[in-house]
Amino acid sequence: MTQSDNPEKPRLSRESKEEALRRILKKHPGLAGSEATPDAAQPAAIPEAYYRIEKFAEYQSIALQQDLARKVDLESPYFLEHDRIARDTAVIGGKEYINFGTYNYLDLNGDPRVNEAAHQAMLKYGTSASASRLVSGERPPHRELEEKIAEIHGTPAALTFVSGHATNVSTIGTLLGKRDLILHDRLIHNSMLQGALLSGAQRQPFEHNDVKGLDELLTRSRRKFEKVLICIEGVYSMDGDVPPLPDFIKVAQKHKALLMVDEAHSLGALGKRGRGIGEHFGVNPADVDIWMGTLSKTLAGCGGYITGSAALISLLKHSASGFLYSVGMPPPIAAASLEALRIMEREPERVQKLQENGRLMLELAKAEGLNTGHATGSSVLPIITGSSLLAARLSKALFEEGINAPPIIYPAVEERVARLRFFISSAHSEEQLRHTIRRTAELMRKLSESPLPVQKG
Ligand SMILES: Cc1ncc(COP(=O)(O)O)c(C=O)c1O
Repeated sequence: MTQSDNPEKPRLSRESKEEALRRILKKHPGLAGSEATPDAAQPAAIPEAYYRIEKFAEYQSIALQQDLARKVDLESPYFLEHDRIARDTAVIGGKEYINFGTYNYLDLNGDPRVNEAAHQAMLKYGTSASASRLVSGERPPHRELEEKIAEIHGTPAALTFVSGHATNVSTIGTLLGKRDLILHDRLIHNSMLQGALLSGAQRQPFEHNDVKGLDELLTRSRRKFEKVLICIEGVYSMDGDVPPLPDFIKVAQKHKALLMVDEAHSLGALGKRGRGIGEHFGVNPADVDIWMGTLSKTLAGCGGYITGSAALISLLKHSASGFLYSVGMPPPIAAASLEALRIMEREPERVQKLQENGRLMLELAKAEGLNTGHATGSSVLPIITGSSLLAARLSKALFEEGINAPPIIYPAVEERVARLRFFISSAHSEEQLRHTIRRTAELMRKLSESPLPVQKG
């Protein structure tokens, strides 16, 4: 067909582009998306907020927050550059701080034995697995680490992923689908929520640690779904408390639901030997269907793991996209975490010291009348300020005195429970803990009474 044969062509010169578009859309309504109107289809009519990143509402909200923080003389307390290993103390910008901003719970990051294990693995296997384990193959530290993780949890098998966050996303996204239901504690970590979104399953939160509420939800809804997954944490990452695991197991079994426990903050912190919430309550490991943990906290590495039945691990190994389509863990990191687990086993006194420190810090905070929320004296201690601004000011005041305790503010938590969060380590001394809590209480009182200095301009 030539141009002159084309019946649409001559009409374009007589009618406006808009009219032409309207006519074509009328003839082929399928071409218009539900939103598309002739106007919207004109490039000039598309708002900048839809195609220029600096105009995105999400970016504007960050920029506004930063601007407000500058106005009240609060520079961001995040992304600080550390000069050396962050342990009970950290060096930031050349100055030493008592450090509560990193989860080096058993002080194994920087341990010479852990460094040496990583060094030897690096010399032998390099710094990268160089592709997915499916295609590039495995290295001995991968398998040895997974065997050790399974042994520690008392489970038949384990699988490691390159990120703790991706472990939850990929595992939940793989196991559940749109005919399923995910019931999770209201305070569950973002990674589990993202996994739930990916899965397409229906999702329903229950009140924090509310086993009875969960039981009622299941009584009402269990039969409407195929698989049901219950998600809880071993030690809650923002709140530092421990759920009643045996009660959750009973409810999961009663309703034939799967139970998943995220041990990110409880491995190394709970149980006589630091084996986590399972050891703490003395439960049968097989009563939890999916144990999850991270290598980035107690285990001085980076990545996450799932441990449980051989069927669970085989299913994930062959179908979890975050494992199959992602590079294998760097061999030096796998070797470092393996060595950290071995040291945790050989030196249970580290676990006991962390537990003593957790209890002491909670007692001290309570004695000062500080609001510690749900905390039960474990690896994480929140001190709730009830306002993001007060949390930011308190954190800044402590920082100026040589104490690093980052604030957790809205939207990471609800505004009314904005807080400082302290990660406790076995390396902290009693003196460091006493000094920190005393100054936190004093500064909190002072700041609550003093007005906010606002910068001009
Ligand atoms: C409870 C919980 N699960 C999972 C993760 C993700 O782990 P990672 O930081 O190792 O990716 C975190 C991170 O802090 C966490 O607190």
